[in-house]
Amino acid sequence: MLGEPASASVHDVGRMQILEREILAIADYERQRLGQELHDGLCQSLTGIAALTVVLSRSLAANAEPGPAAAAAEIVRLLNETIGEARDLAHGLCPVGLNGAGLVGTLDSLARNVSRGQGAFCSFVGDRRCPELRPETTAHLVRIAQEAVRNAITHGRAGEIEIRLACADGAASLSIRDNGVGLLGQRRGDSGIGLHTMGYRARAIGGSLEIAPQPGRGVVVTCAFPLPSSDKSTEGANNVRGP
Ligand SMILES: Nc1ncnc2c1ncn2[C@@H]1O[C@H](COP(=O)(O)OP(=O)(O)OP(=O)(O)O)[C@@H](O)[C@H]1O
Ligand SMILES: [Mg+2]
Repeated sequence: MLGEPASASVHDVGRMQILEREILAIADYERQRLGQELHDGLCQSLTGIAALTVVLSRSLAANAEPGPAAAAAEIVRLLNETIGEARDLAHGLCPVGLNGAGLVGTLDSLARNVSRGQGAFCSFVGDRRCPELRPETTAHLVRIAQEAVRNAITHGRAGEIEIRLACADGAASLSIRDNGVGLLGQRRGDSGIGLHTMGYRARAIGGSLEIAPQPGRGVVVTCAFPLPSSDKSTEGANNVRGP
């Protein structure tokens, strides 16, 4: 379990948790702002340029200039590709703010996007019992899932990843399971901040984070967190969607 050093006093731990939250809030704000600028600024400008270039291409074709018309059409194709990449980047930077899809919708999109473009099959299994959560809680959970998926692909070279959300009796868990090479002993090295940040995020929502080898192969990252008491519910589990 990732936690504070055993020697820290209760007072130190409290101060550290406040600092962690502030650092995360600033980082999230900056990411959100960058994502919105990218989406509303650059993407819109490129879309305008692509629309003008379509007109140019048609006009060249109408004036019997097939060479320049084809070149203009190629520019449109490249622009559309670039717009798609910039939009994906913007959605990754502010996954919750841009589409308002909530936790289930956003995790589902994350799984689909990974399966579409990152060489691994990623599925999402939701749970009908899970209530809508506060936006900050949702954002922390999405960031945990993003980092765990990135690690599974980059370090684990996983071919399959499963994101699972489960809720019952006032408690919930988000787990990200991969079939990659597994932990090779260096996971607590100083170089990376991903595991630490996932731990901060889990604590920021009153939960805990565990990263463990999977029986057989790969790694499972689990964030257990409490649900607000009014959000307890009674229905059964449900496989929401896979890509
Ligand atoms: N799913 C995984 N499969 C295999 N190894 C993993 C996995 N997740 C984490 N690790 C190991 O744990 C280490 C620490 O992960 P962490 O996310 O903290 O850092 P990083 O990914 O190396 O860098 P950063 O996240 O800062 O870009 C990784 O370098 C890797 O060795
Ligand atoms: Mg990482």
